[in-house]
Amino acid sequence: MRGIILSGGSATRLRPCTKVTSKQLLPVYNRPMIYYPLNTLLKAGIKEILIIVAPERAGDYLNLLGSGRKFGVKFTYEVQDKPKGLADAFIIGDNFIDEDDVVMILGDNIFEDDLSREIKNFKGGGRVFAKKVPDPERFGVVKFDKNNKATSIEEKPNRPKSNYCVTGLYIYDKRVVGIAKNLKPSNRGEIEITDINNWYLKRDELDVKLIKGEWIDAGTFNSLLRAQNFAKEKMHDKLIV
Ligand code: TTP
Repeated sequence: MRGIILSGGSATRLRPCTKVTSKQLLPVYNRPMIYYPLNTLLKAGIKEILIIVAPERAGDYLNLLGSGRKFGVKFTYEVQDKPKGLADAFIIGDNFIDEDDVVMILGDNIFEDDLSREIKNFKGGGRVFAKKVPDPERFGVVKFDKNNKATSIEEKPNRPKSNYCVTGLYIYDKRVVGIAKNLKPSNRGEIEITDINNWYLKRDELDVKLIKGEWIDAGTFNSLLRAQNFAKEKMHDKLIV
């Protein structure tokens, strides 16, 4: 299993704080934001991690994180020239993924749960993690049937069919690279990870697991503030670096 941290993007919702730095380098209590998704991958024993960054910020990431040796892992860096969408991670990561399975995590997502078991026992297809939220229309929304089986996933729907959204950690087998390469951009001009999830869902190969603990997408000022407080109060004993 290889790991990818997707840490580019334009972070327009955090302007002006992100005018001269990357969102995922902003502090969340006592660590740069990217340390939280990094911890999630390190806890799962992932040793090869690709960090995808925006061109203007590449040097800052290298200065902060280096080779990965101090964390006992190997970092590879790739530049995403333009924010083309979350699914672009698998096109940029083509050579890196090679013949392996891959777990991709967003650089601004903070998970309280230890997801090592779900990462380690992955056996193919796709696996994503859903969480009940008050504002599902901001995310990919999952609908479940009576037996708790996912039946549909819609990207940022105006009328969400449930309150469950897909969180920012995704596990796929190597087919994901070919799937991503065949995607057409959506109305907002991005290639959507929801289309990848629907590819697996249609074939009955998508495992949607519920997460129990807190999950924060720290991409707005309010959620960033929530992340700061959560990190201070609840994350201490859960971090290894
Ligand atoms: P978003 O928060 O959806 O986008 P953004 O970071 O550009 O912010 P804003 O909407 O405020 O302009 O992205 C989620 C995560 O994925 C975040 O960590 C940035 C990353 N990302 C990329 O690295 N490349 C991309 O093409 C996109 C769309 C996002």
